Amino acid sequence: MCGIVAATASRNIVPVLIEGLTRLEYRGYDSAGIAVLNPTLTRLRSVGRVAELAAQAEGQVAHHGIAHTRWATHGVPSERNAHPHVSAGLAVVHNGIIENYAELKQELLAAGYVFTSDTDTEVIAHLIQETLKSDGDLFAAVRRATARLIGAYAIAVLREWDESLVVARHGAPLLLGLGEDGNYAASDASALLQVTRRMIYLEDGDIAELRRDAIRIVGAGGTAMRIPEDRAVHESTLSADDVELGEYTHYMQKEIFEQPQALAATLELIGGAQAVSPNLFGVAAPEMLSGLRSVLILACGTSFHAGLVARYWIEQLAGVPCSVEIASEYRYRASVANPEQLVVAISQSGETADTLASIKHAKAQGMGRTLAICNVPESAIVRECALRFLTRAGPEIGVASTKAFTTQLAALFLLAVTLARQAGRLSAEQEAGHLAALRHLPVAVQKVLALEPAIKAWAGRFADKQHALFLGRGHHYPIALEGALKLKEISYIHAEGYPAGELKHGPLALVDKNMPVISIAPNDALLEKLKSNLKEVAARGGELYVFADADSVFDEEAGLHVLRLPEHYGLLSPVLHVVPLQLLSYHVALVKGTDVDKPRNLAKSVTVE
Ligand code: M6R
Repeated sequence: MCGIVAATASRNIVPVLIEGLTRLEYRGYDSAGIAVLNPTLTRLRSVGRVAELAAQAEGQVAHHGIAHTRWATHGVPSERNAHPHVSAGLAVVHNGIIENYAELKQELLAAGYVFTSDTDTEVIAHLIQETLKSDGDLFAAVRRATARLIGAYAIAVLREWDESLVVARHGAPLLLGLGEDGNYAASDASALLQVTRRMIYLEDGDIAELRRDAIRIVGAGGTAMRIPEDRAVHESTLSADDVELGEYTHYMQKEIFEQPQALAATLELIGGAQAVSPNLFGVAAPEMLSGLRSVLILACGTSFHAGLVARYWIEQLAGVPCSVEIASEYRYRASVANPEQLVVAISQSGETADTLASIKHAKAQGMGRTLAICNVPESAIVRECALRFLTRAGPEIGVASTKAFTTQLAALFLLAVTLARQAGRLSAEQEAGHLAALRHLPVAVQKVLALEPAIKAWAGRFADKQHALFLGRGHHYPIALEGALKLKEISYIHAEGYPAGELKHGPLALVDKNMPVISIAPNDALLEKLKSNLKEVAARGGELYVFADADSVFDEEAGLHVLRLPEHYGLLSPVLHVVPLQLLSYHVALVKGTDVDKPRNLAKSVTVE
């Protein structure tokens, strides 16, 4: 989604702003812009790639500026709607959505302001300008103006002849970067690694003033925050290499192939242990996880699918009832609160607006046992939860989530084993066996990745198709959902995931020779039932693509294509079976020539509702 970079420094900050925007491209955007002071305001904007903006900015020199990549919410993608938005010498960039913008716009129109865009952001620019009439200080004006905004925002503001930049956040991420030669702000740490590793994560309600040699932060209550006592300075451990493509063509491809190391890094947390410790989830975990009656998992998209797999594990291993709900539904539903329930938020980014709001909603109902499973330390969701498990997938840049998913699964399996241990349902031998199976995952995934040439050979047969059906049963049903999501988001082929047993209750009507049916067929207790379901497809002329285990038995028949995974993996099998589906969607997208890492209309971090 939208990205912000801001800088005030003794060096020329124009290349810093452009490089920062380039680093934020992965979040998804449709237009970009910068505003710099020299000392009057220069604004440059373009629709399309940051490279086009960079060409426009060539030769510009400035020490003070703000920049933005926009993902359209209010108003179509166009230059007039691209940020920054200005109001007489004042410029604003904004991430988020201002819910009361229409009402504020009426007021500002009545006061004589002329609007040149369809955005909610322009309202912020004029509102600050209007506030400055009675209070000439930019920082004070931003404070007073933002107090009138309803919704989520991270903003950066600059004005002509002013030595300071002002930034503010409420419900959208923003951090400060403390550099040697100046100070910086961005919506994502990766934008600032080029100039500093020293970061301060702003909290909701914070407003900060940045000068070349000083910063000050005022918290929601109006109190000055002490640094580092109230706002800690973090040394980012992100490496520039983590966000480089290296030998790969796409981030998605890189991230699929990084899964063995992402899993190994995540599983370092258990070392060679034969038993799990609840402390893996935080110091308060032994108390919070004891005596649990049920688990509620909240998430969106791929993270939701990880939750669906976890439900099978938690109920089977721990005997604890587990429900999984899409965060955007839960947050507005009149659900029945259960303070004894563990509420688990799963999120790669830790910033997904609906997941964050769903956790806040659960807490507001007295459900204080909260756990974040997240890939980004210090993200809003991590900070909102009492307990945390940080996956170590490294930055995930491709919009299609891959390594974040498999590391989430590893974390959730550890949770299931921990709850099973707490419930006294595991022998020492069983527990050690589960941990050994987890530790073997990186090697097992590596072997699955070796199937790539065969999967690539299949991809060409999908590229001209309009629709595809993914089938699975048991704990592989969520993998069917995930396979369908991957295919639709990057290749734009309409795909549905179904539990195979549900086929004859409706989707079978869709099956004909033009409908490829992809099935996950591990050699488990449901294999024979699944085979009967696949016969129903074959009888209707459907083309079957089956991902089986080495020891799953299939008779050869026309229209049936089988690829075998090297190992049969029992409970953890979903972690392996998702990998060929990621590779399949990647190669279908390559054949179709779509923008793999930045699929149309999508964004990496969904920070708005
Ligand atoms: O950062 P999160 O895990 O909270 O993101 C949730 C979804 O937006 C995300 O998984 C999305 O579905 C992916 N693009 C799927 O590949």
